[in-house]
Amino acid sequence: MKELLIAVTGASGTIYAERLLRAAAAQDFRLALVITPEGARVAAQERGWAVDFDSLQVNGLPREAEGKVMHFHPEDLSARYASGSSVPDAMVVIPCSMGAAGRIAAGLGNDLVSRAAEVCLKERRPLVLVTRESPLSIIDLRNLTTLAEAGAVIMPAAPPFYEKPKSLEDLADYFVARILDQVGIHIEHPGRWGG
Ligand SMILES: Cc1cc2nc3c(=O)[nH]c(=O)nc-3n(C[C@H](O)[C@H](O)[C@H](O)COP(=O)(O)O)c2cc1C
Repeated sequence: MKELLIAVTGASGTIYAERLLRAAAAQDFRLALVITPEGARVAAQERGWAVDFDSLQVNGLPREAEGKVMHFHPEDLSARYASGSSVPDAMVVIPCSMGAAGRIAAGLGNDLVSRAAEVCLKERRPLVLVTRESPLSIIDLRNLTTLAEAGAVIMPAAPPFYEKPKSLEDLADYFVARILDQVGIHIEHPGRWGG
């Protein structure tokens, strides 16, 4: 079974993480989750998540993902994914703040998100960053360029509208299907353009 590490950071767009967790839970994946403190704050504001960093309980995750997700503390640098010997098969930072992108680009490795991302890059495993910031400063653009040069896939949270989504969930699902493509999982979805 493949391992997918999902990191939720403090950018807007928690719904993307929710829909990715839901879709990935239906696949043959072992799921791991790390949420930054600011990620938890934004997730509470946008989707009503309640993250307890002591017990590592998260209320608000999609029902489909319940019981299928291992949750790691964002400061736990002894967690398995901080080591190149336990690298996940893929990592998605969703949503990815410019702060997180900057920490990864600088190679800080001083929290689990930036360290696990660094490990994925050095071990040549897919690293997808679903960024959400607009407009972008030249600093952001340089950081994202550095990350793309290092092998990360930068996917600005920009879902397609051509299949006329009927809900926010629909819209996020179209985009999540594209994210899963990047980690080698191809799911059927009405959002795929058929010409
Ligand atoms: C409600 C809210 C929305 C935010 N949205 C974004 C965003 O879309 N993109 C971004 O880069 N930062 C955003 N921020 C700022 C980040 O949360 C902030 O830079 C934080 O330090 C990121 O921390 P992290 O990377 O450790 O999660 C937002 C903050 C708040 C409170």
